[in-house]
Amino acid sequence: MIISDDNKSKIIKQKNPELNTSINANSDFQEDSYEKNIRPMDFDNYIGQSSIKETLKITIEAAKKRGTTLDHLLLYGPPGLGKTTLAQIIAKEMNANIKITSAPSIEKPRDIIGILMQLKDGDILFIDEIHRLNKIAEEILYPAMEDYVIDLTTGKSQSVKTMRIKIPKFTLIGATTKAGSLSGPLRDRFGIIHRLEYYTNEELAQIVKRTASILDLKIEDEGALTIATCSRYTPRIANRLVKRSADWALVKADGIITKDVAKEALKSLDIDEIGLDTTDRNMLKIIINSFSGGPVGIETIAVALGEDIQTIEDVYEPFLIQKGLLARTPRGRKVTRLAYEHLGINFNNKNSQLNLF
Ligand code: ADE
Repeated sequence: MIISDDNKSKIIKQKNPELNTSINANSDFQEDSYEKNIRPMDFDNYIGQSSIKETLKITIEAAKKRGTTLDHLLLYGPPGLGKTTLAQIIAKEMNANIKITSAPSIEKPRDIIGILMQLKDGDILFIDEIHRLNKIAEEILYPAMEDYVIDLTTGKSQSVKTMRIKIPKFTLIGATTKAGSLSGPLRDRFGIIHRLEYYTNEELAQIVKRTASILDLKIEDEGALTIATCSRYTPRIANRLVKRSADWALVKADGIITKDVAKEALKSLDIDEIGLDTTDRNMLKIIINSFSGGPVGIETIAVALGEDIQTIEDVYEPFLIQKGLLARTPRGRKVTRLAYEHLGINFNNKNSQLNLF
C-alpha cells in the first residue's frame, strides 16, 4: 500500500520549521527527510487549497496587526493533503514555535498536562488525529483552550483539592480525517475550521514538477501529468510516485521521467490508469462477486478484505466515492455501474441475476 500516516506517535518541536527539528525514535527517518526536503515552507510554494490559503493569510495578518495569537484552528480532510505542512507554514508566518504531536501518543493526563505546561506565549500546538484524543485529555484541553488554564486535582476522596494553573496563550491546531468523530464541545472550541479539498490533476502535476526540480530529476510534462493522474488527488502519494518513477527511469531508461517511464513504473506497482491499487480493485471485486454489488456493511467488507475499518473509511472509500465507483447508502456500500465497466465486468448480468429472486 502506498499511503501511510507517518505522523503517528511523532513529536517534533520546531522554531522555524526548516531550521530546527528533533524527531523521536518512532519515526521513519528516511521517509521523513524525503518529505521534509520537498515540503513547501511558505504559502507561495504551497500549491492548491487556494481559498484556504487566502483566508488564512488574512487571519494571520489580522492577528499580527492586533498583536494577538491566532484563534484555535481545525483542519480536516483525507490523509496526505498537507494538514501538517499547512500548520508549519502558519507557524512560520506567525513567527511562532510549533510543537507537533498526535492524539494516539497522548495516553495519560500527565502527557497532555506536560505538553501544555511546556508551551510558551504564542506557541502553536499541533495535534494530529485529534478525533482520537481520549476523554480525559479532551476535558483538560477545554479550559486550556478557552481560558488558558489547567485544572489540576490532587489527593483522594475527601481530601481532594483542585488547583488552577495559568498557562501561556497558545494556538491549538487540530488535524483530523474525521471531523464528524470530534465531540461537539471540542469542535465548538475551534474558532476557525477549514476542510482541505482533494487536489486537481493539474495542481498535482505542478507539485510533481516542483518535487522533481528540488530533487534534480528530469521529468517531462506528460510524465508529470501521468503521475498526477494516478495519485488519488493526494500530494503525499504523488511525491512517493515521483520517487518510484525516478528509480524506474534510472534503472530501466535514460534517467528522464517520460510518460512511458511513468506508465511502466506505475504498472510495476499495480497501479492502474485511474490510480486504483490492488486493494481498491479487490474491494470492488469482493462487493461485486460476494455481495452482488452491495449494499453491504463496512464491517463485512473489512473482514472479507482483511483491512481495518479505519483504513477503509479514511483511505480507500473516500477516493472510490470521489471517482464515482462506490456509493454509500443507508443500507451499506454499493458498487456503481462505472466500477463494473472499469473492471470489465458485465453490469447487466448482475441485474438479470438479481431479477431471478
Ligand atoms: N508537497 C506536498 N504538498 C504540497 C503542496 N500543497 N504544494 C507543494 N508541494 C507539496
